[in-house]
Amino acid sequence: MCGIVGYIGHRDAYPIIIKGLQRLEYRGYDSAGVVLFDGENVNLCKTKGKVEDLVLKSKSEISTNGHLGLGHTRWATHGIPNDVNSHPHCSNSGDLVIIHNGIIENYASIKTALEERGYTFESDTDTEVLVNLIEEVKKKENLKLGKAVQVALNQVVGAYAIAVFDKNKPDEIVVAKLGSPLAIGVGDNEYFIASDASPFIEYTNNAVYLEDEEMAILRLGKEIKLRKIKDDAIAYPNILELQLNLEEIEKGGYDHFMLKEIYEQPRAILDTYRGRLLADQGIIRMAGIDQHLEKFLNANRIIIVACGTSWHAGLVAEYIFEDLARIPVEVEYASEFRYRNPVITEKDVLIAISQSGETADTLAAIKLAKEKGAFVFGVCNVVGSSIARATHAGAYTHAGPEIGVASTKAFTTQITILTLIALKLAKEKGEFSESKFHEFLTELENIPAKVEKALESNPLIEIIADVYKDSSNCLYLGRGYNFPVALEGALKLKEISYIHAEGYPAAEMKHGPIALIDEHMPIVVIATKKGHYEKVVSNVQEIKSRKGKIIAVVTEGDVQVRELADHVIEVPETIESLTPLLTTIPLQLLSYHIAVMRGCNVDQPRNLAKSVTVE
Ligand code: G6P
Repeated sequence: MCGIVGYIGHRDAYPIIIKGLQRLEYRGYDSAGVVLFDGENVNLCKTKGKVEDLVLKSKSEISTNGHLGLGHTRWATHGIPNDVNSHPHCSNSGDLVIIHNGIIENYASIKTALEERGYTFESDTDTEVLVNLIEEVKKKENLKLGKAVQVALNQVVGAYAIAVFDKNKPDEIVVAKLGSPLAIGVGDNEYFIASDASPFIEYTNNAVYLEDEEMAILRLGKEIKLRKIKDDAIAYPNILELQLNLEEIEKGGYDHFMLKEIYEQPRAILDTYRGRLLADQGIIRMAGIDQHLEKFLNANRIIIVACGTSWHAGLVAEYIFEDLARIPVEVEYASEFRYRNPVITEKDVLIAISQSGETADTLAAIKLAKEKGAFVFGVCNVVGSSIARATHAGAYTHAGPEIGVASTKAFTTQITILTLIALKLAKEKGEFSESKFHEFLTELENIPAKVEKALESNPLIEIIADVYKDSSNCLYLGRGYNFPVALEGALKLKEISYIHAEGYPAAEMKHGPIALIDEHMPIVVIATKKGHYEKVVSNVQEIKSRKGKIIAVVTEGDVQVRELADHVIEVPETIESLTPLLTTIPLQLLSYHIAVMRGCNVDQPRNLAKSVTVE
């Protein structure tokens, strides 16, 4: 949570910082702030609200000149979102300025100690405590900024990605990382700093991703200096060449990133299996699995850990792995798993699923599993992310940047990759005949075109959205493979439209939710031909007789459900285990249109953040 951005070099820092903050707003948007240093004056502007509010305020209130700048977009942890609690924060002398993404857990005791030494605090934040701790250490021990940052960080407990400058050292920014991401863009005698590479991609393709417990001194005219925070050991920067391009992180004619990302799914799914699925040769090639095949084949069970939408992809994977590869699977919320003293052995394989690769709870679950000797495999979208680096092996989804806070293409590409893994293991274990394996591979290759077809229902879905946009509640029902899709559909609706929605296994309806059904209740039922169709039809009848409004997602050409439902949305027919890749599409579009019609901020829903780097 929180996005940080910084610049030092020969360009005007202000536009770089503002554009960078706009790209990082997915990480939090409770408040925003910017600081510019023009060699003499520190010009600081902060405001509750979004980056657009910051632009209005900063243009009228401060000089935006300067070749050194820092910016921050906040997801509030300590202190309510207001102007004072916004970053950047200054030290008491006004010499040091800091931006911070993360949490300093022992800030209260440090604050008390600093107060005893005469420090005062304007905000309720842990960050203001940190910058004053750096100042205190710097003054007391007469240290340079880099050393003072290092000494101070050795006294704090928590997570951070920070950038600090000293107005007496106008050619230098010091950055450090533990637990929160920090990328450094390396230009020609200029440095960029950001929570991910999107703020600087149009200026440089060269980036260094700091590792945990590393800090760097970025001084103009000098190469990056990297150090380990704990023992001061010198580290050597690994300068990566980024593949990201600007087009991928812009809206490209769509009204919202979410809609763009929904429409990108045919291409994203194809990119996920490209080079891995070789249907004509009857092969699935995945280096991360090939190199550790024995671990998977000898596993007692697979434990899947994830949060949010990624957890729903994990649930779909449970069905796929057990059904196809006959390997027992447990799916866990990372936040529960890490704290409940789970039984983990060396015979377990843990699969961690994460779009961002930065989710704090998922990272902690990985650490725990590794300590207990399990083999840990990551499924991430963001290349080079913390989870990608923390796992023994893994596979990227290659969905491209997902910027809308509500996850869409990440979900379908996660399912795609997990399906590939399950198919590969099923084949290796001899659970599949050649012909069945081949049938699956061929059908998987057909999925992008079928998703394209499913997207054609968009105008119809817009009409349905108009009918139900004012509902207060909504139920989502599905069975088998489509139960997790029902959960995901409900999550999408509540996330972006703020309508209360619940996903249920269709048969569980009778054990509670049925009491809620009346003529005002819309119920989205996933009733595709394959997968307990007759049973779902019975559920639809039960809803009908209680006057619920039925929106059914059905297989093309369906007759039976059409007769009962108020609205039907068709998706192409496919193999049962692949249906989630199609049935998810109309549910994404439905929540999108309802949210737009209700005037909600689709890409930045209230209180949420895309990357949850605090537990
Ligand atoms: C947040 C996001 C969700 C996401 C979840 C897990 O809640 O808003 O869209 O599914 O985190 O994130 P991850 O990056 O680990 O998949």
